[in-house]
Amino acid sequence: MSHYKMSVLEETGYVVLDSYGGVVDPSEWLSLEYVDWKSSGDTRFAPIASAQGEIGCNAFWHSDPPRDDKDGIWIDSQVAKAPTLVQRVKEVDARVGRCRIIELQPNSYADALYNSHLDDNNRRNPDGEGWVIRQFMQLTDNPGSFMILREDIDDPSTETRIALPAGAQLVVDSERMWHSVWHVGDEPRYCLINSFESGPALEKWIFERNPVAKVESHPLDAGFLIEMEAEAQARRAARTAHYGYDPSRVYSEM
Ligand SMILES: [Fe+2]
Repeated sequence: MSHYKMSVLEETGYVVLDSYGGVVDPSEWLSLEYVDWKSSGDTRFAPIASAQGEIGCNAFWHSDPPRDDKDGIWIDSQVAKAPTLVQRVKEVDARVGRCRIIELQPNSYADALYNSHLDDNNRRNPDGEGWVIRQFMQLTDNPGSFMILREDIDDPSTETRIALPAGAQLVVDSERMWHSVWHVGDEPRYCLINSFESGPALEKWIFERNPVAKVESHPLDAGFLIEMEAEAQARRAARTAHYGYDPSRVYSEM
């Protein structure tokens, strides 16, 4: 299969963009309808665009009829509550698949590594069309929480930790990069996530926001890193033994 891929993601699989800079009233995400859907920890999701316009989180390729993750159907009742967020996604002028808010409860760094996974973004993506990637925009102000990215989940040296203050914007090839969030604090974290088809419109939007393809990881104590890595890998190994395979290596529909 050959798909158009954006050169800006070639080096590291992600870019950090300028902060959003706008203002979004928290009611835009707090008043939405959420569904319980466990992914990468204790989570709920509020879909804004879904495969068939339903309030659900099933992968597009699970829907009836099955679809590739593009041209998501906007859900009127949710769009009415989140006009600024919808505008923010539509301004890109690229094809949007799923669009949703994630709510993540606080966790540990080891939890994040345990829950790290790859997304299944390109199942049924027709040959010759653009590679589907994910866009993340942090809503709550969590500068002490981090998006944890790894090229190889078993190699800590491939890790990048990206801080998540309000407005932080990332574009990630989440089918290539292992990802999860380590969220500290007492309150849940909220983030806007959507799929985009790679193409010139998305590239233009990215380049207008000063993409940085390699950021310095937030420093952490060496002993803490070793301890958390050991805990996470032991839990991952136990899960693999339990299932007879590593479920995080089966592309996630999340
Ligand atoms: Fe994911």
